[in-house]
Amino acid sequence: MLLKFLVRDAARTLANLASGNPLDLPHAERRNGTWNHDDLAWLAAKVRDVPGDFAAIGVFRGAAFRKVADLAANQGRYAHAFDSFTGVAETPPAGGTQRPVDMLTIDGPDEFVRLMAKAGITRELYEVWPGAVPDCFANVPESLRFAFAMLDVDDYQPAADALRWLPPRISDGGILALDDYSPHAGSMATKSIKEFLATDHGFEKIAAFNQQLILCKLPSATQS
Ligand SMILES: C[S@@+](CC[C@H](N)C(=O)[O-])C[C@H]1O[C@@H](n2cnc3c(N)ncnc32)[C@H](O)[C@@H]1O
Repeated sequence: MLLKFLVRDAARTLANLASGNPLDLPHAERRNGTWNHDDLAWLAAKVRDVPGDFAAIGVFRGAAFRKVADLAANQGRYAHAFDSFTGVAETPPAGGTQRPVDMLTIDGPDEFVRLMAKAGITRELYEVWPGAVPDCFANVPESLRFAFAMLDVDDYQPAADALRWLPPRISDGGILALDDYSPHAGSMATKSIKEFLATDHGFEKIAAFNQQLILCKLPSATQS
């Protein structure tokens, strides 16, 4: 039995190596379109000494955010949830969309708060910033910084807008986790991520899995 586990662990470690991912990446079962909670815990552990709050842009019913808020609280931090809470824009967004416009609605931020309470995430652990990207950023204090932020809004335009607002607000050594990144695609969020990667962005790639790209902000001193 022990030998079986050792062989399985070795195989998974080799798989991480072959895919260019860090050897300590969790051996997780991953489903496209969802964030594995072991991966989120792994990322949170990496920013333990980095100043700032945790944030998620695009939270839907909070499947990932409830873990993000829990991890933030465990490190004595605050979490921030950004979303329209009414699904995507009514007009088809530039770069295309893959679903009906009302598919991701949860009927407003109060419903999100209710879902979080049901999951055991109490209201004092997080802030909610309702509104379409980029309007939801308008009232965020200029001084707010993030040690960890994830972006998961599917479509080109909100992802592009968020990728202008968010990166300067991530602390040095902080992590930017991007969903919907398919290296061989060129539309929707992937298009905006590729445009971001083509700029002088000041981040380095630390992992890629499950159509999720993980970047770490380089110290300001090393950025050109
Ligand atoms: C795929 S879901 C996010 C899933 C979530 N990260 C999770 O793990 O459960 C995408 C979310 O982005 C939000 N969204 C899409 N376009 C948006 C926009 N222009 N402004 C604000 N939120 C938007 C939707 O309301 C939806 O909640």
